[in-house]
Amino acid sequence: MQAARIMEILNVAEAAAIACADWVGKGDKVSADQAATTAMRDAFNDIDFSGRIVIGEGERDEAPMLYIGEEVGRGGEEIDIAVDPLEGTNLCAYNKPNSLTTIAIAPKGALLFAPDTYMLKIAAGPACVGKVHIDAKPEENVKAVAKALGKPVSEVNVCVLDRDRHEDLIAAIRAAGARVRLIDDGDVFGAIATAVPGTGIDLYMGSGGAPEGVLACVGLKAIGGVFMGRFRFRSDDERARAEKTAEVDLDGVLTMDMLVRSDDAAFLACGVTNGEMVSGVSIAEGSITTESVVMNAQDKTVRFVKTCHRGENGTVRFR
Ligand code: FBP
Repeated sequence: MQAARIMEILNVAEAAAIACADWVGKGDKVSADQAATTAMRDAFNDIDFSGRIVIGEGERDEAPMLYIGEEVGRGGEEIDIAVDPLEGTNLCAYNKPNSLTTIAIAPKGALLFAPDTYMLKIAAGPACVGKVHIDAKPEENVKAVAKALGKPVSEVNVCVLDRDRHEDLIAAIRAAGARVRLIDDGDVFGAIATAVPGTGIDLYMGSGGAPEGVLACVGLKAIGGVFMGRFRFRSDDERARAEKTAEVDLDGVLTMDMLVRSDDAAFLACGVTNGEMVSGVSIAEGSITTESVVMNAQDKTVRFVKTCHRGENGTVRFR
């Protein structure tokens, strides 16, 4: 994606993070999510492009804003958009690490429409391309990552969502001798962090939201990492709904090229609360600072962007 477009979308992610910063630690995840969603939609509508929400807040009848199929922008280049305006709503509400505003963009038609179900996921950084597989045993994947990264298994750090359904997975990773980094929520962070230097996370495994899987896959594809998935339906009803819009074999392995059908995608996330990847929104003496991560396929870079915004009193403070 062109640098100018990236800057416009970065502005959207930042606006959403600033809007929900007031809700950090307030215990109200619904208001936090609403604030992020409203700000994100307003900011998209200020851009000269024809954006189409492919992954958003839900179906049109259940989500008033950023619903699937909603068109945003003032007209221009056609872009498909996946958003999770506030990824980790509870993390924000309870002021825990790594809640983010997240956006992925790609040319029209490039992003898989992911049904509202779970996805079994595996993600790792560029060194692990071709070395891990969604159908391999956890111990095999852990050993493969250790070899690819040139370190002992005992130093491999695997991020997993802290859920009862992951009990066996966690036991298998520990039995293999690796470390587990449990997260309460926010598996877009967990997957993306595997390819971001300095996070200390080497591998992500487990099941989480399918839409979040597409978002993370864009980032990993953009910079040459690994992502694989498999849908996990929680009920017959979920499966029946997915069948109506299915673009892929619902039981098969979901490769990066199936999830993101373009080499020209970009992923952006702005920190809401402090975390290992980016700091959260900081407001001091009327000045606001945000930190974001940008992964762009065009130059295969991971950029960290720290922005000092003009505060209400008109000042910009560098912190
Ligand atoms: P929200 O931002 O909607 O609260 O989702 C957070 C999240 O942890 C995702 O990152 C993850 O994919 C999903 O929820 C996991 O779902 P569940 O909580 O049902 O295990």
